Amino acid sequence: MKRLFSGVKPTGDLHLGNYLGAIKQWVEMQDGYEAIYGIVDYHAMTATYDPKELEEYVFKCCCNYLACGLDPEKSILMIQSQVPLHTELTWFLNCLTPVSWLERVPTFKDKVQQQADNINLGLLDYPVLMAADIIIYKAEVVPVGEDQLPHLELAREIIRRFTSQFGEVFPEPQAIMGKVRRIKGLDGSEKMGKSLNNCIYLYETKEEIWAKISKAVTDPARIKKSDPGNPDICNIFSLHKMLSTQEVQDKVVEGCRGATIGCIECKRWLTDAMDEELSPIREKYFYYMERPEEVSEIFTDGNKKAAALAEQTMQEVYGKIGLKYKFLGKR
Ligand code: TRP
Repeated sequence: MKRLFSGVKPTGDLHLGNYLGAIKQWVEMQDGYEAIYGIVDYHAMTATYDPKELEEYVFKCCCNYLACGLDPEKSILMIQSQVPLHTELTWFLNCLTPVSWLERVPTFKDKVQQQADNINLGLLDYPVLMAADIIIYKAEVVPVGEDQLPHLELAREIIRRFTSQFGEVFPEPQAIMGKVRRIKGLDGSEKMGKSLNNCIYLYETKEEIWAKISKAVTDPARIKKSDPGNPDICNIFSLHKMLSTQEVQDKVVEGCRGATIGCIECKRWLTDAMDEELSPIREKYFYYMERPEEVSEIFTDGNKKAAALAEQTMQEVYGKIGLKYKFLGKR
C-alpha cells in the first residue's frame, strides 16, 4: 500500500467545507493507503494567534478527526509539533530552497495582502514545512484542495534538488484532488471558511443549521416563488448535489425550474440532508469532547508511531547530508 499524508491547520473549528472537501475523502482512503493524518499546528503559527486558543482548536480538531471516522486502527493520527523532526527536516530543506521559489507561491502573495501587518518568515517558509511533513514519511500520495497544488509542485522541486545533490531518499509525492473541488459558503460566492462567517460548523444543531441555511444566498434572479429558478447557478443546489439523494435532487430541479416549490422548501430539504450527514458526527464529537483522556491516548499513540517513521527517514537523511559524524560514534 502506498503511504499517504495530509493535514488540517487548526486555526478554528472544523466546518462542512473541511468535511466535504477533505476529511470525508480521507475516511474513504484509509482502506487503500497507509495513511497519516496530521493536525498541522506549526503551520497555524504563521498568523497571529492566541496560545490558549491554539490548544483548544487542536483538541477540538482531534475530536473532529475521530468523530468524522478517521480510525486509529487504520491510520496514524498525529499532531505535527509532537514530532519535532518535521522542523529539523525543514531546516535542511530550507538550505536547498531558493527564496525566489517561495516568493512566487500564490498563497504567500495572498497572505502579503491579507496580513500585511505580519509578513513573517514562517509564512514564506510555509511550503517548505509542508514539504517536510510529507516527505519525512516518504508519502507518495497527498489529498489536497486545488489551492495547495503549487505547494505540492514546490515539494517535488525541492526533492529533485535533494536527490541530485545528495542521492535518492524521497519519492516524489502526487497530489490527489477530491471529487469536490471547491465548496462555496452560504454567501454563494466565496470559498466556505471560518473567516468569512459563511460556514456550517460540524457541531451545529439542526436548528442552528436551519437558521443559517434559511438566510443563505440562492439564485438572485428568483425573487418570488412564481419566478422559475435556475438550480445550476444556485449554491443551495450545489450543496444538495453533495448531500441529498438523487430523488431529492430531481425534485429540486423540477420544482425550482417549474416554479412549483419555493426556496424555503428547497432549503428545508437541504437542512434535512445536512443534518442527516452531520448528526452522527456531531454526536461523536461531543462524546470525545467529554473524554479528553481517550483522545489523548489515541493521539499520543499516533504521535509515537509517526515519530518512529520520521526517525527512520532522518537517519537516512543524516547519512546523506553529512551529519552522521563518525568521530562521534552512532547517532
Ligand atoms: N497547507 C495545508 C492547508 O492549508 C495544510 C498542510 C500542511 C498539509 N502540511 C500538509 C496538507 C501536508 C497536506 C500535506 O490545507
